Amino acid sequence: MGATREPSYGGAAGGERGMGDPLESISLEAQDADREAQIASVGSIRTIEWHDGEVIMIDQRRLPLEEVYLHCRTWEEVADAIRTMAVRGAPALGVAAGMGMALAARAALPAGAGAPAQFRAELQAASKGLFETRPTAYNLPWALKEMERIWTREDLAPGEVTRAMEQRAVEIYEDDLASCRAIGEYGADLISGESPVILTHCNAGALATAGYGTALGVIRSVYARNPRLHVLVDETRPLLQGARLTAWELTREGISMELITDNMAGYFMSRGIITQVVVGADRITANGDVANKIGTYSVSVLARENGIPFYVAAPFSTVDRSLPDGSTIPIEERAASEVTGFDDMRWAPLGVRVRNPAFDVTPARNVTAIITDRGVAFPPYEESLRRLEG
Ligand code: MRU
Repeated sequence: MGATREPSYGGAAGGERGMGDPLESISLEAQDADREAQIASVGSIRTIEWHDGEVIMIDQRRLPLEEVYLHCRTWEEVADAIRTMAVRGAPALGVAAGMGMALAARAALPAGAGAPAQFRAELQAASKGLFETRPTAYNLPWALKEMERIWTREDLAPGEVTRAMEQRAVEIYEDDLASCRAIGEYGADLISGESPVILTHCNAGALATAGYGTALGVIRSVYARNPRLHVLVDETRPLLQGARLTAWELTREGISMELITDNMAGYFMSRGIITQVVVGADRITANGDVANKIGTYSVSVLARENGIPFYVAAPFSTVDRSLPDGSTIPIEERAASEVTGFDDMRWAPLGVRVRNPAFDVTPARNVTAIITDRGVAFPPYEESLRRLEG
């Protein structure tokens, strides 16, 4: 797997703005043109792309300090990038898995062209390898299923399968971009108020998708309509996706934001400062339970206690209607080193025992609405999600 360093692609740095700053003093007219340019700059965040036999992805482990791109040429390299979280976020994992399978087909073709059974056996192994990388996000097995529908077709020769898989991988990417835009517009219709202050957790942005984002897609669309929007960003322990990634995305677009530690959310809610919560999802079950980054459940409880709407934004490829509720969603447990320190720094005593579940499940009763690319689902979700599925 190679790595290249590329220039930063546009995007004005927003700088910090304190909550107490006079938002009134902003000249809205003067900001309009800037805002348009900043909104357009989201297209310049190149999370993951297919380039004729290479999957190029920004290495999210190194953001925001360095903008480095990985060039994956085998499905094993893609699997490694997923496992180590160079690429992350449920929809981006789906895109990566699809592209990984397209690489697997290319690699299997020379030997498998005249031996379809061997060709399929190699794709089966790649699919299993990619499936085993991370267990919680539903978009990953969803994308593998999409690819499996192609490579199991007996009427297609290996060459045709390979072309069809590449095409489907690119479609999954393009569909995700379109889905995020739709989610953004549906979500923006829900965010009322003259000066909304949205709390978000983790990173459900352009970096977690093919582009634009789900929760951040809603935030971007709200901002396009109302520049008075302000965002509070949970830092999101232990891997700091909020502090490193969401803060990077929002500041480069000039969207007013402040970073808080996870345990400050309740304080800002109880003071009446937060008007809505918008988060992403890794898996949504038939009854509307939502698996998302660890800490999301706590935020939902605080939102309920404080009477604040709690919105979940996700494409329909995150909805797993085969699971009746969240109790059986596989929850990834990650390395102790993510909790005992960060990078080279260690702050916990040697040998300390650690728990590190990467996700939790927010019960449907805490979710005000689920914003999908097909429209907004309201409780009872069993019914509304079934209706949207069509
Ligand atoms: O462990 P991560 O960084 O992959 O977790 C990501 C999240 O929990 C996101 O909120 C979720 O995948 C939605 S991304 C649009």
